[in-house]
Amino acid sequence: MVKDISSYSNKGEAFEAADDVPVNCSTAPTFGDVVNARLGRRDVLRGALAVSALAVVASPAVLVSRAAEAAVSRYIFEEISHGVDETDHVPVGYSKNILIRWGDPLTAGAPDFDPMNQTAATQEQQFGYNNDYVGFVSLPEGSNSSDHGLLCVNHEYTNEEVMFPGIGGRQDGDMGFADMTKELVDIEMAAHGGSIVEIKRGDEGKWSYVKDSSFNRRLTMLSTEMALTGPAGGSDRLKTSADATGSRVIGMINNCAGGITPWGTYLSGEENFHGYFLGEVADGPEKANHERYGVPGGWYTWGTYHDRFDVGKEPNESNRFGWVVETDPYDPNSMPKKRTALGRFKHEGAESLVNKDGRVVVYMGDDQRFEYVYKFVTEGRYDPDNRAANMDLLDSGTLSVGKFNEDGTMNWLPLVFGTGPITAENGFNSQADVVIGVRFAADLLGATPMDRPEGFEPNKITNKVYVNLTNNSKRKADQLNVANPRAESLFGHTVEFTPPDGDHAADTFEWEILILSGDPNDPDVGAKWNDATTENGWFASQDNVAIDHQGRLWIASDQGSNWSKTGTADGIWALEAEGELRGTGKMFYRVPVGAEMCGPLFTPDDTTMFVAVQHPATDGTKDYPGFERASTFEDPATRWPDFDDNMPVRPAVVTITKDGGGKIAT
Ligand code: FEO
Ligand code: CA
Ligand code: CA
Ligand code: CA
Repeated sequence: MVKDISSYSNKGEAFEAADDVPVNCSTAPTFGDVVNARLGRRDVLRGALAVSALAVVASPAVLVSRAAEAAVSRYIFEEISHGVDETDHVPVGYSKNILIRWGDPLTAGAPDFDPMNQTAATQEQQFGYNNDYVGFVSLPEGSNSSDHGLLCVNHEYTNEEVMFPGIGGRQDGDMGFADMTKELVDIEMAAHGGSIVEIKRGDEGKWSYVKDSSFNRRLTMLSTEMALTGPAGGSDRLKTSADATGSRVIGMINNCAGGITPWGTYLSGEENFHGYFLGEVADGPEKANHERYGVPGGWYTWGTYHDRFDVGKEPNESNRFGWVVETDPYDPNSMPKKRTALGRFKHEGAESLVNKDGRVVVYMGDDQRFEYVYKFVTEGRYDPDNRAANMDLLDSGTLSVGKFNEDGTMNWLPLVFGTGPITAENGFNSQADVVIGVRFAADLLGATPMDRPEGFEPNKITNKVYVNLTNNSKRKADQLNVANPRAESLFGHTVEFTPPDGDHAADTFEWEILILSGDPNDPDVGAKWNDATTENGWFASQDNVAIDHQGRLWIASDQGSNWSKTGTADGIWALEAEGELRGTGKMFYRVPVGAEMCGPLFTPDDTTMFVAVQHPATDGTKDYPGFERASTFEDPATRWPDFDDNMPVRPAVVTITKDGGGKIAT
């Protein structure tokens, strides 16, 4: 049977939906008998619990008045509605403006975007494709400006069928890359990576980017040299024919989410790196490793033209990807560093904070079905008065993996060479081996297999931590566990962690499920929301988390081609985590058809929200009423954001501000 992938645009989604078998074969215990035990004993929605507790001690009149008093949304805006069309939507009283688009000229002398004559050389000087993570650091350095700064943006992947003229459709799968050439591959490589770009707010409050700023920089797969530092830096397993030192690599790939460190550097997570490799894995020491990480994935044909992406020719090259990359945005000449101490996996993001004891804690998820949540605690302490002293904090510390218990606690289990089962008998000869193959070490410790960890972020106001589990269609009923209680979940859930006394370095946290996503009106979905959630307030397949400076949660969704199952394009929802309305969603922004919602991010004063519209016109356009076909460059489902017949559809970063000024949603 012909595999139909044409309704998917995210290569990851396509292959996960179609034929990517999860590679975690660890025999974690079966939790069938405790399914829902945790949901049953401690109510998902604390609001509901609080009301029933009140009912015991208070008269009905008191109960009503207390509930009414408490049930005022902390998010003041008029909710928008579910739906799908060719453009994006904000609430009444808000404005949206395009800040920067794929192809916009970035560096000094960069040419204007010419989609009919794009080359790798021009793309290297222009904003890349598929903006995902958006970070912001203020200018001047050391200030807390909300009007001027550097935007740090990941370019996760490319969609050749809507980027290049004359391409007959998606090239992976049955097309066998027939229309691809080395020239197009090199443009793809130049469109991956990251951008650092100076942005400013003008007199009328409108943001624009500063063309030719000396801060502007592209990080690309074609030419940006990066260092491999930490325990695996210089390891034999990172050596290739191009790099005998095992400590230098050109480029970063599939950078999904990230984070800004307390010292103002930009962290970027390399996610589905396996998809960029082709070839046959030879018998040898890396065979099991490649199998565990899904290498080669065959999503792109780079290996046809560049030997390093052919795993048969360069068996160690893929070990040089799958890391968290740290870049100093204030120094355009600095060399980005892959911080191997934080482990090698399909990194979603890397959000951090300064713990109460001064150590820095980074939260990270491995976004694949049945993979794990991780935490890194630095050995050294953050020095607020000496930036230089913080610059290598991420090279030493303790990486640990999450194991969830039925009693509402969870343990962070350290992944340290020579401890427990992490020894030579099990194939580990150094901490380098532990971080390169950290999934194997986590398996041995009995970590809890999750439903694809995406956004994972600490709330610096409440000290709670939130992780979004986006979906897991492959989890069978006998594979349920306390933290992942739905089989074949298309819709995702959000877990809240509470560190003891706000100590993020502690090895035991409490946890509970905040929401089970999806349509609360369909009993088959098994969703759990606060009853105050409206018909537009629920969402599915949550991905990124943002927390504004008032400690309020915002959630971005990525349903892939499943958007037609919920009847709404992706977007941003406010999500109450406190008080009587805990577990209530409220829709704030909606993307154009076929796009995924990335970002969001707030300026320090919360008056601007940056959002990244990724891969518009691609996902599930066969289900878009009236269009009902796959998009191509010549025939896209939308030409957002330019709506110009001479311009292709383009991923772009958008600013959202309140008309007349003021903090968002107040
Ligand atoms: Fe790139 Fe996990 O989303
Ligand atoms: Ca994405
Ligand atoms: Ca993501
Ligand atoms: Ca996603």
